[in-house]
Amino acid sequence: MLLQLDSVYAGYGGGDVLRGVALTVEQGSITCIVGPNGAGKSTVMATISGLLKPRQGDIIFDGRSIRGLRPQQILARGLALVPQAHSLFPALTVRENVELGAYMLNDIALVRRRLAEVEALFPIVRERATEKAGSLSGGQQRQVEFARSLMLDPTLVMLDEPSMSLDPKTAKEMFKTVKTMNEAGRTILLVEQNVRSGLGVATHGVVMESGKVRLIGPAQDILSNPEISALYLGGSLEDTHAS
Ligand SMILES: Nc1ncnc2c1ncn2[C@@H]1O[C@H](COP(=O)(O)OP(=O)(O)OP(=O)(O)O)[C@@H](O)[C@H]1O
Ligand SMILES: [Mg+2]
Repeated sequence: MLLQLDSVYAGYGGGDVLRGVALTVEQGSITCIVGPNGAGKSTVMATISGLLKPRQGDIIFDGRSIRGLRPQQILARGLALVPQAHSLFPALTVRENVELGAYMLNDIALVRRRLAEVEALFPIVRERATEKAGSLSGGQQRQVEFARSLMLDPTLVMLDEPSMSLDPKTAKEMFKTVKTMNEAGRTILLVEQNVRSGLGVATHGVVMESGKVRLIGPAQDILSNPEISALYLGGSLEDTHAS
């Protein structure tokens, strides 16, 4: 088990948003969290990455508790987050944005080597290196965000709604990239509105509702669970079939 949340309670000061979240992420998996708006999916990621401190419960990463550590310390342990909202600096160049992912490293040779590695995976980082990040399309910006998150060679990469505001074709390519990152050895924890695509690419699924985990298991089991799709996933299974 790479990551384990144990009865985690957390919120923003006005009461708990997460109310006893328990979940596990297996080493090497693509684990996808689904659930309605406001269920607490992004809050789970904020809590894991140290932006929010759990009020209660524990978070174990790679065999050690990361509870109460600062975001920078958690990042240094090998846990990277690509947030839900667009997170590039639009006025900085593509390369500058990617290099920001390595701001913690003092070893210039290492930064160069990492840059070469992410360029191999995301050629756009080299092709558009000196262009402003804000001039790229949504799908291209997402690739640059992924590239930046890999600069510290993380073990676990968290992606919060990576398909948001991408057209279906670009979203499909993005999901392929997620698979490629996973095959290259990263464990992936992903939040997706697009339930069929998210669980489709995932090995494991987590259904959240009202700050709790409702169901956790193999992604295919969750996808094919009629009660879950009717109760918690609304019409999204059907909707996404159509697209
Ligand atoms: N910065 C914040 N300050 C206060 N409350 C917040 C903040 N961010 C989220 N919340 C509240 O926490 C709850 C869970 O929000 P969260 O963003 O985790 O949901 P989500 O499952 O990611 O939803 P979505 O699918 O819309 O992204 C919501 O009720 C939301 O209003
Ligand atoms: Mg969210």
